[in-house]
Amino acid sequence: MRHRQHVNPLSQFFQVPFSLPDKAIIFEEPQYPIHLDIGSARGNFLIELASKYPKWNFLGLEIREPLVISAEKRRNQLGLTNLKFLFCNVNVSLDKWLLNLDHNQLHRVSIQFPDPWFKRKHFKRRVLQPYLLNSLASSLRIGGEIFIQSDNLEVIESMIDVVENSCYFDRKLFDGLKWLDKNPYKIYTEREIYALERELPIYRAMYCRNSKLFINACNNA
Ligand SMILES: C[S@@+](CC[C@H](N)C(=O)[O-])C[C@H]1O[C@@H](n2cnc3c(N)ncnc32)[C@H](O)[C@@H]1O
Repeated sequence: MRHRQHVNPLSQFFQVPFSLPDKAIIFEEPQYPIHLDIGSARGNFLIELASKYPKWNFLGLEIREPLVISAEKRRNQLGLTNLKFLFCNVNVSLDKWLLNLDHNQLHRVSIQFPDPWFKRKHFKRRVLQPYLLNSLASSLRIGGEIFIQSDNLEVIESMIDVVENSCYFDRKLFDGLKWLDKNPYKIYTEREIYALERELPIYRAMYCRNSKLFINACNNA
């Protein structure tokens, strides 16, 4: 079955926050460190990670419900109790869920090949907005990672602007280089495989939460 490519996250329906279930309900061992994947699509990336790292919990959030249903079906078939896929618009539903995590529990966030929304008038539909970044900054442990990647330079640069306009993250260098040449988790996402097969450029950047106390009103609050 084909799924519609994009949904408008700013439409009225997607502006209503969903109450996401507590970590104690979705994970068998809720105390494990958490990796959050924003825009998890069919979930292949997290399914592989969760199989490989049973002492981590993985949460995939996705705004297209049919993709969540199919990812959850596979998760159930594989009996993975350290993984969950939830349907929501992260821009309105994630912040409350993050508030219920234990201190230092959120270790990693990945935002990979987000929908580009090329027209200027649609930039507000892009997933990484300052408000979301601030929620992540308030929850990530010191040293916790935000990994971003895209096959579009303008899109990755706009994400970098959002992260660097905040005072809470430092860019990680790899042998002195700003861009990573491979996915640091050694597993490719669906879009990453598509881009690799077509030899498209891929821009990958890693940021770490620094030790600045979160006070919300940084540069981009
Ligand atoms: C281009 S796809 C990339 C999927 C996957 N990360 C990959 O690399 O293969 C971007 C995904 O982000 C989802 N998405 C876009 N905006 C979102 C939002 N506000 N909340 C949750 N998911 C969103 C889209 O539905 C889509 O599945």
